[in-house]
Amino acid sequence: MPIEFRDLTWYLHGPNSTYVLFVDPSGYLQHGHWGSRLAAGDLAHWRPIRHRAFSPSPAGHPDTYSLDTVQAEFPAGGGDFRLPAIELVQADGTRALDLRYLSHRTTPGKPPLAGLPATYVEATTEADTLELVLIDQPSGLEVTLSYTVFRAHDALARSVRIHNTGTTSVQLLRVLSASVDLPEDSATHWLQLHGAWARERTPALCPIHPGMQSVESRRGASGHGHHPFISLLRGDTTETAGPAWGLSLVYSGNFLAGIERSPYGLTRVQLGINPAGFAWQLEPGASFQTPEAVLVFSERGLGALSRTYHTLYRTRLCRGQHRDRERPILINNWEATYFNFTEERLLALARCARDVGVELFVLDDGWFGHRDNDKSSLGDWTPHPAKFPDGMRRFGEKLAELGLQFGLWLEPEMVSPDSDLYRAHPDWCIHVPGRAPALGRHQLILDLSRPEVVEHVFSTLCAVLKSAPVRYVKWDMNRNMTDVASFGRAPANQGETAHRYILGLYQLLERVTQAFPHILFESCSGGGGRFDPGMLFYMPQTWTSDNSDAIARLAIQEGTSLIYPLSAMAAHISAVPNHQNHRTTPLATRALVAATGAFGLELDLTELPAEDLTALRRLIDRYKTWRPLLQHGELHRLQSAAAARGVSAWCVVAPDQSEALVIAVRTLAESNGPWRIIRPQGLDPAATYLDLLTQQTHPGDQLMVAGLFFPDGPDFHAQAWHLRRLASASATIT
Ligand code: DGJ
Repeated sequence: MPIEFRDLTWYLHGPNSTYVLFVDPSGYLQHGHWGSRLAAGDLAHWRPIRHRAFSPSPAGHPDTYSLDTVQAEFPAGGGDFRLPAIELVQADGTRALDLRYLSHRTTPGKPPLAGLPATYVEATTEADTLELVLIDQPSGLEVTLSYTVFRAHDALARSVRIHNTGTTSVQLLRVLSASVDLPEDSATHWLQLHGAWARERTPALCPIHPGMQSVESRRGASGHGHHPFISLLRGDTTETAGPAWGLSLVYSGNFLAGIERSPYGLTRVQLGINPAGFAWQLEPGASFQTPEAVLVFSERGLGALSRTYHTLYRTRLCRGQHRDRERPILINNWEATYFNFTEERLLALARCARDVGVELFVLDDGWFGHRDNDKSSLGDWTPHPAKFPDGMRRFGEKLAELGLQFGLWLEPEMVSPDSDLYRAHPDWCIHVPGRAPALGRHQLILDLSRPEVVEHVFSTLCAVLKSAPVRYVKWDMNRNMTDVASFGRAPANQGETAHRYILGLYQLLERVTQAFPHILFESCSGGGGRFDPGMLFYMPQTWTSDNSDAIARLAIQEGTSLIYPLSAMAAHISAVPNHQNHRTTPLATRALVAATGAFGLELDLTELPAEDLTALRRLIDRYKTWRPLLQHGELHRLQSAAAARGVSAWCVVAPDQSEALVIAVRTLAESNGPWRIIRPQGLDPAATYLDLLTQQTHPGDQLMVAGLFFPDGPDFHAQAWHLRRLASASATIT
């Protein structure tokens, strides 16, 4: 039973974890525990109550009781001086809020979140959901906290719904999806993912200091700079040991992920929509739903935390026909041609790609309007007449004649000032009337907070996707939001614009992906500027970074893998010298790094010498034999180049341990350095494995304990070991 209930205390059990919350005698909801699995017990008595100077007590309570010193489950102020989870302006202009327990109910399964992406179940037996209602009696505001506990995962999905049952409107200023108060002796550090364009999601481990520390986005998108994820760790937590707590937000817009260490050593961790710039008028009878936060606990280090997110997100967040299918090997013409192409040039590239084993051709930016650079035509989604004189259907058919599927790049949320769409509807972009808006990459954002704009984009997309045999779409988004205002929206509602934009985007994505279920959608935002769980709900893979250099990708893909499965991370072999950092790496290394993701190519094959094409063909053939394992296996990060003197290593193990692929990549060679031993994890210790690449056999336990020897080699050298379990320890090689 994942949810146990006794004496107004709830025990939410995952396979190896428990989350406890309870209603105290005053009716306030308190947090009891989030960590290793517990048998039910009387947690309400764990925390001794004592007086703290300057910590006030609610009316009618002894001075030993203060909301300022308890582990609150959904803090709302009222004498708790730490960061609240909710803040609002009542009709009388005050911010008073006193949330007390009203009711609860538990249901099997997990209801969807109206209009928002969320994890889901396929059978009601997979999870139970607890809904707890708190009420502010004077205003009639009801707050419903929702907790879904998954039977098979140490994961908890939390969200909050605010319902105004009163007679006057209130203005919501802050409604976070999750807030947890951890005790003094739990986490000492927090891990965040930071970066910028072309170097997204670099892990940074920081000690938790007294007071506030946070990361956030105010960009209108989750962004390249920070990530809607936070992990808490103990100082001695490693990849394989020690506690790790993760909070990940299923949302693609402005977010806040913050920690406050209280004067008494409690750690409050919070995640949700960024209150900066947010103000939502909640009229009588109306409700507001927050996005979902997914909380994962691991008592076996960060690796296990990641694998819980991977399995949950791969199988119960991603959806659609392509969720479990092997992803096609694609070639994208962006780094091969940029805007400079003709149909003949593309077909020559396509022929070469087909010959090396590619399965799908992606036509990137520059195919529409009169777009020969990034200064025009977004919004005018008709084929460029000079580049495609026979139209898009014919181009798709020519690809099909070569045996390739057709993929198309689109940037549906944007409009160029130099476009027919902008000239017809200058008010359809996000802008402040009377002020000239900032441009990003010479473009503006279509105001998806307005239903008529969503309608227009939907019908335009339907026309484009029906105009050719499209099997894949790369949905790009290349600027962040400024001048945040929606034309015609009442002044009191302008603070809703950024969130309403995201709701409009989600509605659009839902409609388009439902209308074209056979199309594989890949999300992109100048690489990984919107690589988040919200987008994964609609599109099962994301272009991880515009940085396609294999060595730079080691860190980017490692950071991304903290949360996201390999099947979600698009990774391509590109040209050398690399276009972003001019580095030259061996083709085999580029192939191994790209194989650890949704694999593709992005270079001008027509310029490659014949021997490289032959080598590429062999690498792609080999990748095809690895593809099911790499897309559905379990990732173990073995070594990080940053910490392990220049060698990155990881392995992917089949869920039944029958097969594993181990990969090691050297960044810079070291003269007279130590032996390099790579120790795979997750194998069957009692089995014998055959390395299909060297034909050597190894006992599973020895592989994990003694390891594999990674010989010295030059800079950027890489090696793979493909291990297959033999039927029994005594089996011989056949
Ligand atoms: C940004 C993407 O990340 C690139 O891969 C490419 O599609 C360009 N946009 C095209 O403008």
